[in-house]
Amino acid sequence: MEVTNKFFQQSETLLLKHGGNREQEAKRLGVNINSLIDASASLAPFPLPTLLKKCINKGINGTALEIYPDRSYLALRQAIAKFHKVHSSMVLPGNGASELITWAARDAAQQGISILPSPGFFDYKRALRCWSGEFITSPLPLKWNSIFPQIFPLEPLKDVIWITNPHNPTGQCWSLLSLETLLNSKSLVICDEAFLPLVPNGEKESLIPLVSKYPNLIVIRSLTKLFSVPGVRLGYAISSATRLEQWQYWRDPWPVNGLAVSLGLTLMKKDEILKEQVKKVQHWVKEEGRWLHTNLQKLPGITAHPSATNFQLIESNDSLTQFRETLAQKNILLRDCRSFQELGENWLRIGLQKKSDNRKIIKAMREVISYIHK
Ligand SMILES: Cc1ncc(COP(=O)(O)O)c(C=O)c1O
Repeated sequence: MEVTNKFFQQSETLLLKHGGNREQEAKRLGVNINSLIDASASLAPFPLPTLLKKCINKGINGTALEIYPDRSYLALRQAIAKFHKVHSSMVLPGNGASELITWAARDAAQQGISILPSPGFFDYKRALRCWSGEFITSPLPLKWNSIFPQIFPLEPLKDVIWITNPHNPTGQCWSLLSLETLLNSKSLVICDEAFLPLVPNGEKESLIPLVSKYPNLIVIRSLTKLFSVPGVRLGYAISSATRLEQWQYWRDPWPVNGLAVSLGLTLMKKDEILKEQVKKVQHWVKEEGRWLHTNLQKLPGITAHPSATNFQLIESNDSLTQFRETLAQKNILLRDCRSFQELGENWLRIGLQKKSDNRKIIKAMREVISYIHK
């Protein structure tokens, strides 16, 4: 019994650490899941392109579920490699970026102490703890301007550095030039580019072109955010062939399922769908992101921080916990930032939505603020 309680306590803590708990929130609030605007997660709000839906259906009706996937994922690796102009031995698909973060953490734990810029994505700690990896957090300045890309502000003194580009939760995009200098001084640089394809002009800052030159570099990508497919679980790592061979040796057989493989193959081979999606999503981040930021800035008592990507942080001098709950009662979910070290209850993160929902969010925020100020 005690074990069960502990397990549930841990999953509660995990829920607090991640946005996108729409189902649980709908239950808690006693509303239909579809009536919620979930701005606690940061996914592009566009339906899956028809061709990809067809590809999933074809996979269900065809062989994708009936046979084991090719254990080496050769065809998918080749397709991703061609898209990124690297050798296929330098690509490893994974069960979402999260699985690959776990293996990167195993390498990190062997190399020494990891530096985690803070506030940061909690999953790096989870992964390092799997391998008893040591880490220290290094605080990022909590004020930044709106010109992106920016110079990565930390000068790490330890063996391994974990970079998120653009950074989660601040939304800052780091410049390639400032990141490259780290590669000469660190024994291992892990760069999570899960959100980079969503950043207007972000691809220029990718470290992928440097992977052939630096064996101490691991770049991790994900399809989750760009295509809004957290249920598919498809990501990939780009790094030295020797490192990725080792990961393959360590990990479970067939971590990427047959449907994710067919989706990945279709996307990478018919790369016009991928390019089209990138164009559409970046346009939305630019236009809607600007609109949301401008309107958040107009809210009394709120500081809106600039972002290069599809989520924005807001800050107040007072706790925003009750504000967030009142918005939840109005079916709007924002990301609680209490689980981010350095942030806490005076901060919230807002995932950019489609136009009509962004307008509803601002309207509801205005109403709640005017009610509080009455
Ligand atoms: C920065 C960052 N990297 C990686 C992930 C996980 O991506 P995936 O769904 O591919 O495991 C997330 C999910 O929230 C994230 O915020």
